[in-house]
Amino acid sequence: MTRPRRSCALATAILACAPGAYAAEHPAAAHREWSVYNGGPDSIHYSSLDQINKDNVAQLTVAWTFDSGDAFPGSQIECNPIIVDGVLYATTPKLNVIALAAASGRLIWRFDPFRGGRTIGTLHNRAVTYWSDGKKAVIFSAARQFLYALDARTGQLIEDFGDHGRIDMRAGFARDVAGLSVSMSSPGIIYKDLIIIGSSLSETLPAAPGDIRAYDVRSGKLRWAFHTIPHPGEFGYHTWPQNAWRTSGAANNWAGMSVDVARGLVFVPTGSAAFDFYGADRIGDDLFANSLIALDAATGKRVWHFQTVRHDLWDRDLPAPPSLVSVERNGRRIDAVAQITKSGYVFLFNRVTGAPLFPLEYRSVPASDIPGEVAARSQPVPLRPAPFARQRLTEELLTERTPEAHQAVLAKFKTLRSAGQFVPGSTGGTIVFPGFDGGAEWGGAAFDPDTGYLYVNASEMANVLRVFERPPLADSGSAASLYQAECAGCHGADRRGSPGGEVPSLIGVADRYTEGEIVSVLMQGVDRMPSFARLGFGRVVAIKDFLAHGKDVATTPMDAAKDLQELKYTFDGYPQLLDPDGYPGIKPPWGTLNAINLNTGEYVWTVPLGEYPQLAATSAGPTGSANYGGSVVTAGGLLFIAATNYDRKFRAFDKLTGRLLWQTLLPASGNATPSVYEAGGREMIVIAAGGGRSKEPSRGVYVAFALPASPASNQRHEPASSSSGSPR
Ligand code: HEC
Repeated sequence: MTRPRRSCALATAILACAPGAYAAEHPAAAHREWSVYNGGPDSIHYSSLDQINKDNVAQLTVAWTFDSGDAFPGSQIECNPIIVDGVLYATTPKLNVIALAAASGRLIWRFDPFRGGRTIGTLHNRAVTYWSDGKKAVIFSAARQFLYALDARTGQLIEDFGDHGRIDMRAGFARDVAGLSVSMSSPGIIYKDLIIIGSSLSETLPAAPGDIRAYDVRSGKLRWAFHTIPHPGEFGYHTWPQNAWRTSGAANNWAGMSVDVARGLVFVPTGSAAFDFYGADRIGDDLFANSLIALDAATGKRVWHFQTVRHDLWDRDLPAPPSLVSVERNGRRIDAVAQITKSGYVFLFNRVTGAPLFPLEYRSVPASDIPGEVAARSQPVPLRPAPFARQRLTEELLTERTPEAHQAVLAKFKTLRSAGQFVPGSTGGTIVFPGFDGGAEWGGAAFDPDTGYLYVNASEMANVLRVFERPPLADSGSAASLYQAECAGCHGADRRGSPGGEVPSLIGVADRYTEGEIVSVLMQGVDRMPSFARLGFGRVVAIKDFLAHGKDVATTPMDAAKDLQELKYTFDGYPQLLDPDGYPGIKPPWGTLNAINLNTGEYVWTVPLGEYPQLAATSAGPTGSANYGGSVVTAGGLLFIAATNYDRKFRAFDKLTGRLLWQTLLPASGNATPSVYEAGGREMIVIAAGGGRSKEPSRGVYVAFALPASPASNQRHEPASSSSGSPR
């Protein structure tokens, strides 16, 4: 059965064709296009299309592919494409914005924010933002410190937005953030004529504050800002040391937000304050870090908030926009908001009042033994639903893949502190389980309004958190020792980067970039990497020489007294507890997909998600694997998800039972959330195949699937081509 495509002309007659407004008035029509990141302002990853269903999903074929041609070693695509009026908008590995005919994948325009120039770093983007008033249609997309506004029809910059089509997101803070990195990996969200944005910031100090900001979609003028690190007189100010807003940083929203259009509320999940693992300079609960905040979308005034982690010492950022859902309680419907976490929790609140809808308790948790650190005494834990990832690593949970693997991991495990959630990092090493990447990650949850089921995919991995005193800076008299003191924590003592590919390898960095580019990255910072300007230009050049030529030159020792005391303790990166062959050191499942009934808090089903092709022959069933990217649930009875590292698969499950109904191989792993839409009379599902995680090859491909075209169907609705956007 095919349904008529919602025509913009029809919508225009009613509500000027603004998707948000249209959706608010016509909830049933809201999920037929994919005009907003994660399917709609409610972030529920749901499509009401049902042409593809349980009976025919096995016939899915590739409808089209588009290769952006700009993948590079280590690059990824996390983008969830937006589809409006027959046009698909997405980003490429180098953050070009592309507009494709949604029915055929034909390129309409392409915008390169770097104007063909070279880029540095891995570059993350999860979607663009679409806004229209029926006359004008705009695509907003971020690259580095800039937010660009493009004409949705042509890809040309909109001259009267900000400074000739872009705004500098470093501007407008109440304190000087010069030299600090401010960018944005998840898209802004629309409320009326505002685009509301968060930011990606450095995870260590110095870092900019995580203000939530709303700009006028037409002019780019700042309309309001909410201080996640409160200023004097603001709610929460006393949960920090005095004047922390001048010195502390982050508590930022990098995951994206959700909007209740009818009520005028924006829901903002935030991450931890910088530095992630040592907070002697931010003693206190640190509101509004790690919080779900409900703000009046028109004014930025706080309506309610819930802090999921007090004084975070584990990088437990809220990783995804919350799902705006509706649940049944004692025969009544209650509008609610569900927030998933890296720890494996689902928090469910009344959307209007913020009251928890399942019991939760504040549990006493251990103190820190790192000098100067004061951990919170208790932390909130929901009692229902049960966590969707294992919570405490014990000997019984260690790998038994082979006897040798078990022995090796057991020996390591015995040296570590493992006592469940919220155990502070220690000199000897503390197990963080689920690991730094969750539990849940930025892929977020899907919600089916027809059944009340919430779908969460989770990784299961143990990390080791070691916090120790930095080698005294006075000893850092050489470039190699500066590297060890300042860089090794993230890039590794061996310069190979983090295991999951989040922090790039620096081996051969001089073959990829000019020496000037490396110096400039170190002076200014990039994305989650801080600026090292505080070391002074001479030392930065010495580190660059060390990286580029292996030359260990002497530098003038730093005056320790003058350096940031907040950086007295550091960490040794994000090591995973692995067996000697590189597999997770825990028993499977290493990744799961879960269906949770939010009406009752009960699990409906759980299946392992993902596999290691090399193990498939020997293991009893799928082991599951690390997964990044979310699922989509449809009225056709299906749950689509790629996300898995290693196996490059894209799968469809029966949404009621978890039975696998279809799977296919992608050109590279699909670490992104798919989008479902209708074009030319066909239901289509599109996914980015970007690879590039876990040392897998990188690609720049979008793949769209549909049922085989019947001779009768045609591509009537293809929009006209136009000239390429000319970036400034
Ligand atoms: C807090 C963690 C962290 C620290 C400390 C850190 N980096 Fe980075 N670095 C990153 C991340 C994350 C990226 C990737 C940024 C992106 O996504 O664009 C990066 C990127 C880079 C790049 C660009 C690499 C590429 O392939 O694009 C260079 C060069 C670099 N870092 C050098 C250094 C040096 C030298 C130091 C020490 C002075 C250092 N970093 C300290 C996290 C860190």
